[in-house]
Amino acid sequence: MRLPKAGTVEIVPSVLAADFGRLATEVAEVEAAGVKMIQFDIMDGHFVPNISFGPPLVAAMRPHSLLAFDVQLMISNPRQYVDAFVKAGADHITFHIETEDEPLELVDELHKAGVTAGVALNPETDVLRIVNVAPYCEMVLVMTVHPGFGGQEFIPEMADKVRQVRGLVGPATRIQVDGGISVDTAPIAVGCGADTLVAGSAIFSAKDRCAAIADMREAIASAQPSLAVQ
Ligand code: DX5
Repeated sequence: MRLPKAGTVEIVPSVLAADFGRLATEVAEVEAAGVKMIQFDIMDGHFVPNISFGPPLVAAMRPHSLLAFDVQLMISNPRQYVDAFVKAGADHITFHIETEDEPLELVDELHKAGVTAGVALNPETDVLRIVNVAPYCEMVLVMTVHPGFGGQEFIPEMADKVRQVRGLVGPATRIQVDGGISVDTAPIAVGCGADTLVAGSAIFSAKDRCAAIADMREAIASAQPSLAVQ
């Protein structure tokens, strides 16, 4: 299991905002900032209105990084691609509850494949949809934007959804937020119970990525002095 154990606050750069032409260098830069995990946004142009990349890019990056690979499947048929992403080097795989009729079976399949499992819900999806599956997942992803593109605004109403999910899963499960995470919104999300913060443009659009990550850690730490922010 390479997903950091619950109890620390982790910043997770999303490579969707990175320069694909020099991705290994971009990832090495954030790795030097001490992050433990990076996220790959897999988009199929069907479940979300955008196409990103697939297993070949994840496989190409695997030899270049020791980080944990968090793969978010924003695709209509996640089950069909589990093996390909596990072979490519994924450590954690998140599927969207809106795309899967038998989520418990898929979680079981992910665990049998040797990766940790996550379930994601879109802004319009009620927490009730994950009540039965969330207890079996190592992480729950609360989308804080409508998925498909980086650089969007954080949806403030999602703060309360994070609180609901924290109430549902308890302290041992990670809660991830994704979309519009910045030095302003990261402390809000952590204050509501999130501990895994995906950030794309806030990190990769910065000239100095290490400083951008340090600033986000600082913003969280000053809002929540008791927390261990990684
Ligand atoms: C959006 C993706 C996010 C996105 C985050 O659908 O899931 O991971 O890359 O980018 P920012 O941090 O720029 O909102």
